[in-house]
Amino acid sequence: MNKRLLVLIGVAAGFTAGSIIAAERDASLYVGVKSCKMCHKKAEEGEQFAKWQESKHSKAFELLGTPEAKELGKKAGVEDPQKSGKCLKCHSTAYNWTETVQTQEIPVEEGVSCESCHGPGKNYKKKEIMKVKADAIAQGLIDKPKEFCKNCHNEQSPTWKGSFDADKMFDKIKHPRPKQ
Ligand code: HEC
Ligand code: HEC
Ligand code: HEC
Ligand code: HEC
Repeated sequence: MNKRLLVLIGVAAGFTAGSIIAAERDASLYVGVKSCKMCHKKAEEGEQFAKWQESKHSKAFELLGTPEAKELGKKAGVEDPQKSGKCLKCHSTAYNWTETVQTQEIPVEEGVSCESCHGPGKNYKKKEIMKVKADAIAQGLIDKPKEFCKNCHNEQSPTWKGSFDADKMFDKIKHPRPKQ
């Protein structure tokens, strides 16, 4: 069965979306933001790297070192949020929605980076594949990842505010290519 369909069915059935994703994402295929940056930093391409860097996702690890995070940690029985899988599962791509680090290719400090949304890049990041969207998708690129926001933006977050409008929230972090 189509994997994305499986995820949708899982969500509809009320499973924890995160755990389903973790099971089907191959963490050994992560390459880290450094590998995306080389082609996605130019202004004429939409400077996705800079836009990500300015976004809170790039600071998701740092944030876990704040007094506010430590306070939240205490309530969850976590001594140091920057070292706990209970927090890093959603605050670091390297944890891949699990409670232990899953790859050394992505530093934990990178926070939530491109591949948490767009999928592990090892097989699609080659130029000749990236240039042909269908090929990139066949190699694991998730081109429309809004449905994956709720893998982290959900009621398991200690700061969950009860709802999440993916379209509205994406507006704050959008990084389009300029119209050709
Ligand atoms: C060797 C250069 C190169 C690398 C490395 C690279 N990309 Fe790309 N990417 C491209 C090109 C070229 C396009 C297509 C642009 C176009 O169609 O004009 C593209 C398109 C995309 C798209 C848009 C797909 C669509 O059309 O909807 C996404 C998303 C994307 N890349 C994500 C990534 C991510 C995430 C990484 C790192 C894992 C990455 N890319 C690494 C060159 C690269
Ligand atoms: C299920 C995923 C998930 C888990 C687990 C998680 N977080 Fe978060 N965290 C988020 C998301 C998503 C946000 C963005 C704001 C929101 O929607 O709650 C966030 C935001 C935060 C913020 C900023 C709050 C704000 O309003 O700006 C702090 C602090 C924080 N998390 C600490 C923690 C700590 C400490 C843990 C571990 C005890 C943890 N988080 C576990 C997903 C998670
Ligand atoms: C929080 C999730 C998230 C992160 C992190 C993220 N993206 Fe995206 N990206 C999206 C979504 C959602 C879209 C828009 C898809 C759509 O049109 O519905 C998108 C679109 C794109 C596009 C196509 C833009 C266009 O309109 O042509 C490129 C290229 C891209 N992302 C590259 C990157 C790169 C490179 C990084 C890391 C530096 C990155 N993204 C980080 C979610 C994300
Ligand atoms: C791997 C987990 C993860 C995924 C997937 C994810 N986020 Fe987040 N997001 C977070 C965390 C953690 C924070 C809090 C970071 C911080 O405050 O430093 C956050 C914060 C944000 C913020 C800033 C909050 C604010 O109030 O300004 C926006 C906007 C956002 N996310 C949008 C999205 C959208 C849209 C998607 C899907 C396209 C998405 N996120 C996918 C984990 C995730």
